[in-house]
Amino acid sequence: MAELALTPYAPAFIESMRAVGYSLEAAVADLIDNSISAGATLVRVQFRPFDDPYVAIIDNGEGMGPDELTEAMRHGGRSPLEVRSPHDLGRFGLGLKTASLSQCRRLIVVSQKDGRLSARCWDLDLVAQREAWVLWVPDTEAEIMALPHVGEIVEQGRGTVVLWQDLDRLAAGEASVEQALGEKMDRVRDHLALVFHRYLSGEPGIGRLGMEINDNPVLHLDPFLSLHKATQPLYEDVFEVEGSEIRVQPYILPHISKLSRDELKLAGGEEGLRRNQGFYVYRNRRLIIRGTWFRLARAEELTKLARVRVDIPNALDHLWTLDIKKSAAHPPEIVRRNLGRTVERIAERSRQTYTFRGRNTRRDGIIHAWNRIQGRDGISYRVNREHPAVAMLDGALDDDQRQLLRGLLETIESTYPADALYADIASDRPRATERCERDSLRDLALQMLDAAGSVAGARDSLLANLHLVEPFCSYPEITGEIVKEIQDAD
Ligand SMILES: Nc1ncnc2c1ncn2[C@@H]1O[C@H](COP(=O)(O)OP(=O)(O)O)[C@@H](O)[C@H]1O
Ligand SMILES: [Mg+2]
Repeated sequence: MAELALTPYAPAFIESMRAVGYSLEAAVADLIDNSISAGATLVRVQFRPFDDPYVAIIDNGEGMGPDELTEAMRHGGRSPLEVRSPHDLGRFGLGLKTASLSQCRRLIVVSQKDGRLSARCWDLDLVAQREAWVLWVPDTEAEIMALPHVGEIVEQGRGTVVLWQDLDRLAAGEASVEQALGEKMDRVRDHLALVFHRYLSGEPGIGRLGMEINDNPVLHLDPFLSLHKATQPLYEDVFEVEGSEIRVQPYILPHISKLSRDELKLAGGEEGLRRNQGFYVYRNRRLIIRGTWFRLARAEELTKLARVRVDIPNALDHLWTLDIKKSAAHPPEIVRRNLGRTVERIAERSRQTYTFRGRNTRRDGIIHAWNRIQGRDGISYRVNREHPAVAMLDGALDDDQRQLLRGLLETIESTYPADALYADIASDRPRATERCERDSLRDLALQMLDAAGSVAGARDSLLANLHLVEPFCSYPEITGEIVKEIQDAD
């Protein structure tokens, strides 16, 4: 038997690696992982769509010396099997190269450490020309200093600039690179705001990270609206797998009617609210998977307010089959079992929030059908969205139907004939009194109870409080009889 050392043919291999499937936002996020692992407190993304277009990521982390930098440029420089520091966001020893070269043909990394400035460059055309894994090394100070943003890390005394030039993938199929890059960068901003939100807002155990895109700060986007006073955190579930802790923290987001326009946007909009329900898995507090129930539950209309934060350490990577782009991973059986337990608990709470919320909107203890609202421009009357007849219907509809219901309520509210009513009352013209007949009250009660029926507790609570709900509160005797009749039938 003989052995044959067979190395990949560099030009073909490095070209193929470009097709791993990075999106621009995933590629930028992968570089920011490196900056965070290097202890950076500020990461700046700069992109220039004109002249010599480039994208640069500049950090103030500990930087790399010349030898370290050479190693960092090696494809698969570090083994995926290596035990990493618990704060390291890396895994495969590929991100820097693969993420970058998926977007550009020339990757230059410049780093400053211990007073030494060094630079290395992968240039796909040079590799093709030499037919070998040849790294280009800019070695005169003038050559390195002429590269954009290098002055900034020299001034900081430490840090790294990752520079992408020859942006063929970003420009591919676009009429205007300038416009295309601008739009893509907006997506990058949204992605980073979410993926790194816990670093951007700061948390005990990790310092606060500053982030900018073209000098504009990236603001954190908290998918749990955890500071909203109407968000309900459920109790946290903690379990151990192979000696490492996994923490599961469910949140029930506020009902849509309690969100301002901005808050709703943060939650992903009306459609996003439904689409983004589910688990949010964080590896070392960096978001890797979001908005899926891992098939442990169906993405129902009724669970759409539920989002669950799952914290996993990098020590369990081998169980999660993390992919190279860190954008997919699958929970191992033992984790799935534990998550399943949480799912039921949440779904139940979410349903309750959705179908029967709140009691009193005014201090009189009555659940009114109409709310009188003192606004800045005067008084208005609005149909109470928390009235069970409205809330139950709302909860039973799908998104399109709910739009119709909203439209109907808004039409009624905005066309309410207040002037005519006022004139009629003032002129003493006789007014027909609207009375509810016993049968229609009974039907209404049964329908509402029926809608509440699927939710534990909601039906009983509604039945017990029916005498406080309009119109029932105006007919205490009839309501008492109806309640008794229903209770007897139960
Ligand atoms: N911005 C940076 N600052 C300091 N070191 C870096 C930076 N980017 C990359 N490195 C070094 O290069 C190595 C290789 O990076 P990468 O290819 O992304 O693989 P991984 O992150 O999986 O280790 C890292 O482990 C780190 O030592
Ligand atoms: Mg990395």
